[in-house]
Amino acid sequence: MRYFKKIAGERVYLSPINVEDVEKYTEWVNDLDITINLTLAPNIYSLEKEREALISLSKEGYNFAIVTLDKDELIGNCGLGNVNLIHRTAEAGIFIGNKDYWNKGYGTEAMKLLLDYGFNLLNLNNIMLRVLSFNKRAIKSYKKCGFKEIGRRREAVIIGNKKYDQIYMDILASEFKGKIPEKIEK
Ligand SMILES: CC(C)(COP(=O)(O)OP(=O)(O)OC[C@H]1O[C@@H](n2cnc3c(N)ncnc32)[C@H](O)[C@@H]1OP(=O)(O)O)[C@@H](O)C(=O)NCCC(=O)NCCS
Repeated sequence: MRYFKKIAGERVYLSPINVEDVEKYTEWVNDLDITINLTLAPNIYSLEKEREALISLSKEGYNFAIVTLDKDELIGNCGLGNVNLIHRTAEAGIFIGNKDYWNKGYGTEAMKLLLDYGFNLLNLNNIMLRVLSFNKRAIKSYKKCGFKEIGRRREAVIIGNKKYDQIYMDILASEFKGKIPEKIEK
């Protein structure tokens, strides 16, 4: 088995990362259509460098492969970083690498599963994320999950001599209702 259903939604589930997917991830992290939306666009990822990154992501922290329920197909990745279990905060990140799956609700569903995990199993209180101001698709998706804009770092990213703000968004546990608590039998 390549993937394991840690948390399942209607069309996708979150699974531990499978390092054997390194070629697919390497293709995605070098694809500018995807990475222009992330701050890692200038980076160059060899197969070896990506393998090392995946080994570390799969062993430490809270990182998941996003997999479709109907075909068990890997379509992306998401995770929580900078987790602080004292103040119960973390930072979310996500990308759908398979572009055929953009704009079809998969990213929103995967982020909601990640929030369910973060709020209901890690008992986090505040989850934030950063998104570039031109990434309208991501902003719309995050708002559908319940994230609100809390501020922006002005002109934080420069691409082609144009400067863009980085928008900060967050969501509180009290603003999110997940499905994990329903697993407890009454
Ligand atoms: C951002 C991302 C995770 C969103 O996932 P997704 O599955 O494509 O998004 P969804 O379909 O769930 O939601 C996107 C929404 O934005 C809308 N949208 C798309 N392009 C838009 C645009 N240019 N302006 C406004 N809204 C737009 C879609 O119509 C959809 O809204 P709807 O469901 O009300 O129709 C995914 O597109 C992705 O990984 N992109 C590349 C990497 C990236 O940007 N990562 C996030 C970095 S912060």
